[in-house]
Amino acid sequence: MRDLFEAEEGAQMSLQPGAVLLRGFATVAAPQLLGDLGAVLAVSPWRHLVTPGGFRMSVAMTNCGTLGWLSDRRGYRYDPIDPDTGRPWPALPASFRELAATAAAQAGFQGFEPDACLVNRYDPGARLSLHQDRDERDFRQPIVSVSLGLPAVFLFGGIERAEKALRVPLVHGDVVVWGGPARLSHHGILPLKDGEHPLTGHCRVNLTFRKAG
Ligand code: SIN
Ligand code: FE2
Repeated sequence: MRDLFEAEEGAQMSLQPGAVLLRGFATVAAPQLLGDLGAVLAVSPWRHLVTPGGFRMSVAMTNCGTLGWLSDRRGYRYDPIDPDTGRPWPALPASFRELAATAAAQAGFQGFEPDACLVNRYDPGARLSLHQDRDERDFRQPIVSVSLGLPAVFLFGGIERAEKALRVPLVHGDVVVWGGPARLSHHGILPLKDGEHPLTGHCRVNLTFRKAG
């Protein structure tokens, strides 16, 4: 297990049938991705969503693409309009689309064309509890998750929430792709440890690409 997770840039590691870690796949593109994220944030800034149960999420979020993921007292859903601006979410930057498609293809999912990118910002202490991504229409489409900035521990479990989750250390530039038999696997992020990254400062940024509509 140690060898698996200490593998260097370019290594490809299976986490589960249908789930793969592409170590460092986004390292070269990262400065461009973060620059393009700045333009997205100028239109649709960070915000802390509220869960249907009324709790403020510790992760700050925004979206780009034709659909954005939302949570509020009414539930979880995708919406073409940013409720904070009353306008459509900013378009997916070309750098985002290209990275998502090439990572998916590398993992065996050809022709991935995401219409939604959920952007998560984890400040020290922020976490995401175990959940399934099930608000999308077509579960044959994979999920592509890009890690930028501070490292984090990714939990990757089973279809059943109670199944023991693998603890996967993720660093800047890592990409995880899951689909097929792993599409509905539970996953989450342990509370972020403080630190400083030259490109993001005191936070981790995660881009999650999906074909939602
Ligand atoms: C998510 O499940 O939406 C994000 C996971 C992550 O931040 O790596
Ligand atoms: Fe998720």
